[in-house]
Amino acid sequence: MVCLGNICRSPLAEGILKSKVNSANILVDSAGTSDFHHGDLPDSRSIQIARKYGINITDQKSRPFKLNDFDIFDIIYVMDKSNFHNITRLARNDFDKQKVKLILSENKSSQITEVPDPYYDSNSGFEKVFKMLDEACEIISIKLNNANK
Ligand code: 4NP
Repeated sequence: MVCLGNICRSPLAEGILKSKVNSANILVDSAGTSDFHHGDLPDSRSIQIARKYGINITDQKSRPFKLNDFDIFDIIYVMDKSNFHNITRLARNDFDKQKVKLILSENKSSQITEVPDPYYDSNSGFEKVFKMLDEACEIISIKLNNANK
């Protein structure tokens, strides 16, 4: 799960997906395209909204995306087109590039293609982001859990 700062959206996506899949079979992690917040906890508003829905994300620390992530992960979900551009330009080959997907592309019924950056938004922005990610992660988890049966 990748966003810009790895403190608002992608930590939520990581926590939500982890809550829906079998962690013995599926490795879920998150990173930022920047190192602005390297080592920081998720934003307090992300922590709060996750807690509201029974998910604890306080074990996470922001880290920048690294090239090695292309080797470790089969799918790299990005939150918006800017993240998509920043990650695909790091890709070493087409195999890497094909791993990168906009997370909302998994939700065929979503009219919206990008998870908006809630950093400068109010708490309601975080509620909306949580809902979008929860719907997408529900679809992703069904796929992943079926593939790992
Ligand atoms: P995120 O939100 O990419 O969802 O973690 C942001 C967090 C921090 C900044 C930008 C976006 N920032 O510019 O510091």
